[in-house]
Amino acid sequence: MHSNERKFIHYQSAKHDIMVGDDIRMSAKRINIRVTSNHVGISRQSSQIGQSKMIWSCPLCASELRLMGQSMRCDNNHSFDCAKEGYVNLLPAHHKNSKQPGDSGAMIAARRRIHDAELYLPLAEEIITVIEACTNIKTLLDIGCGEGYYDGEISRRFGDIDLYGVDVSKDAIRFASKRYPAHHYAVANALNLPLISGSVDLALRIFAPSNDVEINRVLADDGLYLEVGPAPMHLWELREALYESPREHSTHRREADGMIMLREGQCRYESSLNSNLLEALVSATPFAFKGDRNRRAALLEHDQMTMTMSFDWRLFKKR
Ligand SMILES: C[S@@+](CC[C@H](N)C(=O)[O-])C[C@H]1O[C@@H](n2cnc3c(N)ncnc32)[C@H](O)[C@@H]1O
Repeated sequence: MHSNERKFIHYQSAKHDIMVGDDIRMSAKRINIRVTSNHVGISRQSSQIGQSKMIWSCPLCASELRLMGQSMRCDNNHSFDCAKEGYVNLLPAHHKNSKQPGDSGAMIAARRRIHDAELYLPLAEEIITVIEACTNIKTLLDIGCGEGYYDGEISRRFGDIDLYGVDVSKDAIRFASKRYPAHHYAVANALNLPLISGSVDLALRIFAPSNDVEINRVLADDGLYLEVGPAPMHLWELREALYESPREHSTHRREADGMIMLREGQCRYESSLNSNLLEALVSATPFAFKGDRNRRAALLEHDQMTMTMSFDWRLFKKR
């Protein structure tokens, strides 16, 4: 049964200061977070018990991997060592298209700074609200998980979900594994997921590449897929400062191969960034190398800047 629901959450008066380490202080004024959705009627108990199981598959022959001591091994005797931090590298050298694919250590560290400053917390809360309305989520896969910020927020709220994350950046996965030892992480390509078919209840993709065919394959029957990306005006002030003729982000897609869209929504707010956070935001994004160099230097002179944070999400279900 489909119903229409409109919910407005106002953060108009929510103003707070957050200290992170010694040097980052964010004064965030959040406005107008709007959630628009169709199709509700699903509910989730946070007390549902998750099952711990191994769902990694061999990137060479696709058979199931089993943990044997400090490595993972398949029936065809392909073996992958587990790092001391707990993650496994399932990206064979001949599957890489560069020596160090994915985001660099510097970008990952900068992203962790902005996450620690809670710049993306309203989005994390929005994602948690969406998950809360879903039933029977025992296994969640975060595709292009970066340093695991959203995974950490999700498992803090739903301790029973088995959390898996993949990212092609080894630095990102090392960071995520260290910080969240209870999660399962692998260095892997999102376009060729080393996961057993039908093993995932909810696939999550936030600002990362993905492949619908692969998502469909790893999703269980009735599995869900939540896609989150930038809305047209996301980080508009940054783009205005860096480019003579800034362009809006393109609109998020509403169709995914082999899936039907159940719900959609937006999350919008503004944050007041100090110079440290502004620098971290630039370093964590491709803006670190894009745009005019002089304009970038001028941008980083700002003591404070109000930034538009704007996201769209879509929840799909496997057909
Ligand atoms: C913009 S970041 C988003 C990270 C995280 N989802 C977040 O929102 O904090 C994109 C991430 O995708 C990863 N990535 C890029 N190409 C990838 C691929 N083919 N497979 C897996 N991860 C990939 C990058 O290393 C990076 O960590």
